[in-house]
Amino acid sequence: MEPHGGNLRRASERYGTPAGGWLDFSANINPLGIPPVLKEALHRVVEEELEHYPDPDCKQLVTVLAQYHGLDRENVLCGNGASELLQLALQIWPKGRLLLPVPSFIEYEQAARLGGHEPVFFPLTKNEGFVPDMDRLCAQLDQCDGLVLGNPNNPTSVLLSKADLLRLGATGKRLLVDEAFVELTLGGEDNSLARHLQDFPNLIIVRAFTKSLAIPGLRLGYALGHKNTVQALKKRQIPWSVNRGAQAVGEVFPFLAEHREKTKAWLSTERDYLWEGLNCLPGITAFQPATNFILCQYKKEVGPLADALARCGILIRPGENFRGLDSCWFRVAVRSREENQCLLSALQEVLPNV
Ligand SMILES: Cc1ncc(COP(=O)(O)O)c(C=O)c1O
Repeated sequence: MEPHGGNLRRASERYGTPAGGWLDFSANINPLGIPPVLKEALHRVVEEELEHYPDPDCKQLVTVLAQYHGLDRENVLCGNGASELLQLALQIWPKGRLLLPVPSFIEYEQAARLGGHEPVFFPLTKNEGFVPDMDRLCAQLDQCDGLVLGNPNNPTSVLLSKADLLRLGATGKRLLVDEAFVELTLGGEDNSLARHLQDFPNLIIVRAFTKSLAIPGLRLGYALGHKNTVQALKKRQIPWSVNRGAQAVGEVFPFLAEHREKTKAWLSTERDYLWEGLNCLPGITAFQPATNFILCQYKKEVGPLADALARCGILIRPGENFRGLDSCWFRVAVRSREENQCLLSALQEVLPNV
């Protein structure tokens, strides 16, 4: 099975490309699409700048991001998507026992192993709504050297409270918080630990532009951390890791207030619309989402359901390869009203036959 959602080429090889193109619920991308001003920035780069190397220090982009977060430039490192920064972060930490709540983004375990760490799994359970019990989590963390956490977490769509995050930070253990989806929560920056970065020298925050700006094809993310951490990350990074187009797009990010407002308006209606709609379908239990994707359990194996939907041109993300889930789980992205309706009616149609 596919390690990640959103691989349209592989879907087309397997099922053939649908006449109207794929309706992709397998990748969690903002359906409002790329803000036009970003496309203009990219066009300018294509016209004027590709014949030069990009700035290896991403100085302009680092400056706007530091300003946006009220941090120093020394606290910011840009990278080739959040994935690069996750990998780098786990390479600079001294090898040790890393606590990983699961299910979570599968790259955490891979990056931990690549970095020579021993992953220690902390099971998040269906009965607890996949919310970690903080006393047990802290007790386990005490036996480990660090913790890797998605907030909100993929695929569970659970967001930890600020109080819980501060409690974890106060343990003094190494803490890597992946906030790739934090801009796609209703609280936005209020849910981020960025404002508390200076209080926790062992904290690394990873952020992505990928999801909220709908640019998975461009590759852009950044890490926030203590200046010594950022220096260590940078030493490991491939030069020119962030291409000029990605830099130019990122430089516009702090000025996208309208896009953020529109995103919030979309999310505040569509997330719960789809969640409630899924829960009305026979055999499906959908777990309450904090962000733009929803974890679901089906009463049977998901494979035939995913195949039947693919034959209708719709992709969902089977959950089987997330540690802690089995073949009865799947995840869907929240999309536009029309697209969400399309998913719900396709499910209604195919469910009796799978
Ligand atoms: C939780 C989480 N973090 C990070 C990433 C990777 O983001 P990027 O595409 O910016 O590397 C993903 C991608 O799916 C993700 O789900």
